[in-house]
Amino acid sequence: MNMYDIIYKKREGGVLDKEEIEFFIKGYSNGSIPDYQAAALLMAIFLKKMNRTETYELTKAMKESGDVVDLSAIRGVKVDKHSTGGVGDKTTLIVGPLAASCGVHVAKMSGRGLGFTGGTVDKMESIPGFRTVLKSEEFISLVNKTGLSVIGQTAHIAPADKKLYALRDVTATVDDLSLITSSIMSKKLASGSDAIVLDVKWGNGAFMKSFEDASRLGELMVEIGKNDGKKTIAVITDMSQPLGYAVGNSLEVIEAIETLKGNGPQDITDLSLTLASYMIFAGERSVSPEEGYQKAKHALESGAALSKFAEFIEGQGGDPKVINDYTLFPQPSYSSEIYAKEAGFIGSTDAMTIGLASQHSGAGRATKEDIIDLSAGIMINKKVCDKVEVGELLATVYGNDRERVKKGSLEAIAAFHIQSNKPEYVPLVKRVIQ
Ligand code: URA
Repeated sequence: MNMYDIIYKKREGGVLDKEEIEFFIKGYSNGSIPDYQAAALLMAIFLKKMNRTETYELTKAMKESGDVVDLSAIRGVKVDKHSTGGVGDKTTLIVGPLAASCGVHVAKMSGRGLGFTGGTVDKMESIPGFRTVLKSEEFISLVNKTGLSVIGQTAHIAPADKKLYALRDVTATVDDLSLITSSIMSKKLASGSDAIVLDVKWGNGAFMKSFEDASRLGELMVEIGKNDGKKTIAVITDMSQPLGYAVGNSLEVIEAIETLKGNGPQDITDLSLTLASYMIFAGERSVSPEEGYQKAKHALESGAALSKFAEFIEGQGGDPKVINDYTLFPQPSYSSEIYAKEAGFIGSTDAMTIGLASQHSGAGRATKEDIIDLSAGIMINKKVCDKVEVGELLATVYGNDRERVKKGSLEAIAAFHIQSNKPEYVPLVKRVIQ
């Protein structure tokens, strides 16, 4: 077998078999296949597409390129949750405690933010003392004790994805259904949970710009998860405006805490209860998602989920006093407010523009090596459908670098589109694939 023939076959629209896909992943992982041949194959896949069997074999080969975590020492059904990425998405910090306080075991590995999207690991690190690197025994023992632990993903999980993702990023081959599916699912399947709830985003702040494409991605990921013996559910959700009002690390943790206190924005609260309901169902703690929803709602209203969040912070070395004292979070030195120049209704708030403005204010990285400002970000004051008057506050940009805050605020203003008529309401959750 050689790489030239594999590239040629895909270029001509052929279907790659298991052995060819394994040959490619093994060879690229061990360095015997160079970047230029891998890039050529990625582009051929992008243009000629892979079928479902090829996508499954690619996912499996990538999963097997590294460690497959053994969580058998954790009692019961282990449930993971994953979002395909968005702006202001702090739901893991809410659904983890919601599901865990209903008896679900959540052993989650999360990533850091890159580009315009944030990452859960960075958000959690804005809590003083919080550790996201734990030995596997400590991770397992925390899940057994509190029902919840979230750690950073190690380099040993699906290392082929790490290399391939970097190559896709510079060869315009990121937004392909099979390549995204294999990238996400190889890591999820290697992470050892029994069930996975996927939040598949669509809209200008997501990889998938249309609902139809996000649905196809959700269907494919559910099928691949099931083929690997995992209960997999995909919830297709809107990411055409940022989730909630807060974008940026400590700002988002504070909004997550407010949500757990019952004071959260409607969109975040609704989405978190929906995702938690499917986690509770997948974790066999309810007979239906509807019953799961009622349990999650009770956990929110009774304060059980907030107590679980405190336990979770303490378990990972963080200071649970942050829950009642937000001054313990990293504080920004500068802020810049942006105001409406015309009256009307917010027709749209471009999520990607807000994500980039937040990144440029200091909250995100352009490269993996960048050091981020945990206090930086944007507080939105007006959401889509809200009425605005001339001179009303639209958003405030925060951070510790005056120039960056200014740059962020100049960019953020372009995200708000004001129109004379009230726009049609777009439901946040449009479809669930089970
Ligand atoms: N997230 C991933 O991990 N991989 C992709 O390809 C897209 C989003």
